Amino acid sequence: MKGIILAGGLGTRLFPLTKITNKHLLPIYDQPMIYYPIQLLVEAGIRDITIVTGGNYAGDFLRLLGNGREFGLTHINYVYQEGEGGIAEALGLCEHFAGGQPIAVVLGDNILENTIAPAVYTYRKSGTGAKILLKEVTDPERFGVAVLNGDRVEKIIEKPQHPPTNLAVIGVYMYDSRVFDIISTLKPSGRGELEITDVNNQYINWGEMTYEIIDGWWTDAGTFDSLYRANRLVALKRNPELKEALR
Ligand code: DAU
Repeated sequence: MKGIILAGGLGTRLFPLTKITNKHLLPIYDQPMIYYPIQLLVEAGIRDITIVTGGNYAGDFLRLLGNGREFGLTHINYVYQEGEGGIAEALGLCEHFAGGQPIAVVLGDNILENTIAPAVYTYRKSGTGAKILLKEVTDPERFGVAVLNGDRVEKIIEKPQHPPTNLAVIGVYMYDSRVFDIISTLKPSGRGELEITDVNNQYINWGEMTYEIIDGWWTDAGTFDSLYRANRLVALKRNPELKEALR
């Protein structure tokens, strides 16, 4: 299974922090943001990794990460996304890299407390269709929200004004090679992007979507509040004794 980290986009929600660097190079406690999705994939046994980035600071990823020696890798692939046409557009640029194999995709601003290795293992055993990971949150209107029916996902609604559940679709997705056929049929959404939620809803319509609800905390880091939260959560994970000082 191959791994893809999506770290494109201009990070405008974090201006002026992202005026002179890429969002995914900003610090999350003691490491640059991009380290976390790389570690997540490597810990799940995925060593063939592509990073999609864009904007004016793409070269800085190479300077920071090189061939990934710090993560025990011998090689990292880089892909450049022009503009910010959406998560699904960024993923579509990786068809050649995927080469027909199943892929695990991680959004570059998502940080998890725990490993995804068990979910990757279960998906690998089946090897077809798609899998999403869900987490109960207090602010579902910020995310893709899943509606479940027993062990099936009924649908996903992207950033609903009135969320029908509290189950956010986190930025970790597993797909078979048909994902690229789906992406090639997508039309831009109201916000002008190719939406990953449209991709996931296609797998749901085919009856080929599975899900798992994750243990431990999860956060994105694409707004001032969530960036702060991510820093705080990682600081507390590394040093539980900071709890009082960070209250
Ligand atoms: O964090 C999970 C959420 O991520 C999901 O619940 C949503 O369903 C999904 O649409 C997405 O929501 P956001 O609107 O918060 O995604 P955002 O635009 O912040 O992009 C997340 C990452 O995806 C970003 O850190 C880099 C990558 N990306 C994004 C865009 C728009 C790209 O690589 N290229 C892009 O063009």
